[in-house]
Amino acid sequence: MTEPRIIQNPVELEALAGGCFVPTMGALHEGHLSLIREAARHQGPVITSIFVNPTQFAPNEDFDAYPRSLDRDVRLAGEAGTDVVYLPAESSLYPEGRAASRTTAAGLPIPNVAKHPQLEDAGRPHFFGGVCLVVARLLEQVRPSATVFGEKDWQQLQVIRAMIADDAKLDDIEVIPGPIVRESDGLAMSSRNAYIPPADRLRARGLSLALDAAEKATTPDEAETLMRATLEAHQLTVEYAVIRDPESLMPVTDLNRPTRAIITAGLDFEGGSVRLLDNRAMPLVR
Ligand code: PAF
Repeated sequence: MTEPRIIQNPVELEALAGGCFVPTMGALHEGHLSLIREAARHQGPVITSIFVNPTQFAPNEDFDAYPRSLDRDVRLAGEAGTDVVYLPAESSLYPEGRAASRTTAAGLPIPNVAKHPQLEDAGRPHFFGGVCLVVARLLEQVRPSATVFGEKDWQQLQVIRAMIADDAKLDDIEVIPGPIVRESDGLAMSSRNAYIPPADRLRARGLSLALDAAEKATTPDEAETLMRATLEAHQLTVEYAVIRDPESLMPVTDLNRPTRAIITAGLDFEGGSVRLLDNRAMPLVR
């Protein structure tokens, strides 16, 4: 295996157009590596970006504390099949400066699927503006033929799909979904899992157990009640635990269509807290 090439200047990306692109914020774990392996099955070079994107963090969130492990990330990305690690300078993605880029992100027209008042938008209204802004700018620089996004952030995957489909400059890019990778105890892998103290780790299992519980339900209401009860039994603070249409994320009315259970819950511990996300296909009709 050869070391991946590191590119910082976006002009050098021009020769790599048509490859497969995996955007990340670093702190790579097995979930990211599975996305890179998926990209390596695609034709053309694999480009993995590492950029902790300030516009998707609110001022009170963990931008400064977000785990950063660049040397390790570059090595792991290479082992998983990355040809080029793109490390954009903030000034190349946001030439207008950080404060102005936050204003741009906040005013960006984003897809409707980003705007459900009960989902991510409820607790993190800045989030999808920042994600859409950085992903659109990265895609314009990298010009891939395909890009891989993890299913763990289910709403983000739908937002990116809609954003790409709606943008005439990007709509020829294929979006490849990457399945959730789990720890041995069922917890969906996330860079923020590193925040969970060992003593609180058992409680984090509540999310996957809530999804297991919902599988016994036959109606959305019953599934949502079972998920909430399981999350609360693990002393998790429920942000949302819902059954939705997998693409529009609208509440489900027709049970003959596919449905998805989607959860976000907070785990508070001494000295901090972490938001945990999970989801699963949830056919309620048997
Ligand atoms: O999913 C993530 O890690 C980020 O939201 C992304 C897509 C890399 C944009 O910063």
